[in-house]
Amino acid sequence: MQEGVLIHPAGPDNARQIAELYQMAAGGVADYLWFGMAERGESILDVGERRFVRAGEDFSFQNCTLAARDGKVLGMIHAFPMRELTNPEPGFDPVLRPYAELERAPSLYIAGIACYPEYRGQGIGSLLIQSFGVYYMNDNMAEYSLIAFEENDASVRLYQRLGFEIVARRPIVPHDLIQYKGDALLMARDVFPAKEIT
Ligand SMILES: CC(C)(COP(=O)(O)OP(=O)(O)OC[C@H]1O[C@@H](n2cnc3c(N)ncnc32)[C@H](O)[C@@H]1OP(=O)(O)O)[C@@H](O)C(=O)NCCC(=O)NCCS
Repeated sequence: MQEGVLIHPAGPDNARQIAELYQMAAGGVADYLWFGMAERGESILDVGERRFVRAGEDFSFQNCTLAARDGKVLGMIHAFPMRELTNPEPGFDPVLRPYAELERAPSLYIAGIACYPEYRGQGIGSLLIQSFGVYYMNDNMAEYSLIAFEENDASVRLYQRLGFEIVARRPIVPHDLIQYKGDALLMARDVFPAKEIT
């Protein structure tokens, strides 16, 4: 099912699709953030697109890798090197605090991964995780990290199959926009594992 799938870096023209896919990956956290940033007349996805079209930022199309077939985007992974931690201050947003506390540095942080619904379960997410690292070789990161929702068990299973382990957890702070309850999980894996992953 991965036949004809190309993995390649995103461009600024992909910003809207990246925003859509990031929104699917974030379980409501993107909606929460972008809602708070919306300017008059802007939809939540307009905010996401405005952020991903920028260059030189962590949340930039420049940090997104796409899976595409015949020019059609099927999925994406968004990742950037996290070199040091910014410890959340006492007044930090309580809904966002668990995710800020789970960040891990130094690591190549996978901030979001998603495929459009009709392309899931075909190995494309696995292919993205196994191949995007080639674009980050110069960053010299030894470890991948990501934050998953324990309730999103299909994604946790996928990460475990690809060698990620749960290294910390925090309870999710409930909010109408956040789709999951239970714990948020910090998962990590060596970029070059000692044992081959099949
Ligand atoms: C999570 C997500 C990115 C995974 O991508 P995906 O392309 O569906 O992942 P894969 O196809 O590689 O693996 C998922 C399942 O398909 C199966 N699969 C793998 N290759 C396959 C193939 N060639 N044909 C059919 N099924 C396949 C896997 O065995 C796996 O099954 P499992 O549930 O038993 O683990 C995708 O499901 C998604 O977009 N979900 C919504 C957004 C989201 O939740 N993101 C993660 C937030 S932490």
